[in-house]
Amino acid sequence: MNNNLMIVYNIGELITSTDPWLIKDAAIVINEKTGLIKEIGKNKIIKEKYNLTNNNSIDAKGASVLPGFIDSHTHFVFGGYRADEYLWRLEGQSYSEIMEKGGGIVNTVDATRQTSFDELLNAGKKRLDNYLQQGVTTIEGKSGYGLNIETEIKQLDVMRSLNCKHPIDVVQTFMGAHSVSREFNDNKEGFVNYVIEEMLPIVAKREDVSFCDVFCDKGVFTTEETKMILQEAKSLGLKPKLHVDEIAYVGGAELAAELNAVSAEHLLKVSDEGITRMAENNVIPVILPITAFSLQEKYAPARKMLDNGLNVAVSTDFNPGSSHSYSIPLLLSLSAIKLNMNLKEIVKAVTINAAKALDRDKLIGSLEPGKYADLIILDAPSYEHLIYNIGGNIVDTVIKKGSIAHK
Ligand code: NIG
Ligand code: FE
Repeated sequence: MNNNLMIVYNIGELITSTDPWLIKDAAIVINEKTGLIKEIGKNKIIKEKYNLTNNNSIDAKGASVLPGFIDSHTHFVFGGYRADEYLWRLEGQSYSEIMEKGGGIVNTVDATRQTSFDELLNAGKKRLDNYLQQGVTTIEGKSGYGLNIETEIKQLDVMRSLNCKHPIDVVQTFMGAHSVSREFNDNKEGFVNYVIEEMLPIVAKREDVSFCDVFCDKGVFTTEETKMILQEAKSLGLKPKLHVDEIAYVGGAELAAELNAVSAEHLLKVSDEGITRMAENNVIPVILPITAFSLQEKYAPARKMLDNGLNVAVSTDFNPGSSHSYSIPLLLSLSAIKLNMNLKEIVKAVTINAAKALDRDKLIGSLEPGKYADLIILDAPSYEHLIYNIGGNIVDTVIKKGSIAHK
């Protein structure tokens, strides 16, 4: 009866990220072959029903167990670093000023073009290893440091390879319109046409790429340009995501709603109208508090979005420029202290709402029968410690699709 089953028992509290939210003294039965959750129940009942042995069970020893974390907005595959720019920002220069001087994203583009596939793969693997230790079981990764077809493909290939080799699932987003490339410096229209005519048809044929994202903001792509790119992407089967209203208000959230985008991300300068429109169109706001912290900007109005019924997700935005951090503890702390989110809202923001931002909520993001057994066992009796413990990693064990991926 126990063939191919793995049972996690003695769970002090199980946080499901669905209804019921918390189950005390729980156990989870997993089908090891499929990696799916078969049954969730009270510890005592599961122990009576199944024959637990050392080989088919994991003792959670009274700890708190949650769904694996999902980081739904990152740029984790890149070459080089921009530590100098970070120091310039500390001396008072803004992200936009550095970009206007010819720095910023295009610097990382130069470095990424010069970095070999294997070097990008090794760096990407190390970053994923670090994420895994912090309880991340699914991550989104954006291209956008190539800005030409060869290097965009190189970045996507690195992510595809990591998705196969690494326990973390990597969801790929094509972001060819992250900035105008140096070759098209004085010809933005030409670059937009290049994205639409040369890059999108090739990228959209790949089954491993799910989304297309555009940096729609002051000094980058206009709402008209963004609309052209994303409408074409949509017609080719890529789902739209948008970086919007980060540097300045440009009506980006409204555009995300108009395009029925899966998510709108950043949103530091979003309007009230934009919040209403996102709520009406089920757009998931992906809020990036480490970016606001690192840029020393005002935080996005996450509280207002939650009060308007939006399913807010939060993410690290790990990248070499605006948020050089893959720290989940920092993300959770800032969400509590700077975004005024409560514990339940924060957990949803890194589990079920993050799954919604990746259009994967039917498979991951909560612990319930039929979903993947992606879960974490904390070194703590209660999930309150996730925000009570400031800056420290309290994840003890990570289970990905029913197998121990980190301990
Ligand atoms: O999400 N805002 C645009 N893109 C990234 C920054 C990329 C970079 O500076 O390299 C972000 O913050
Ligand atoms: Fe980003």
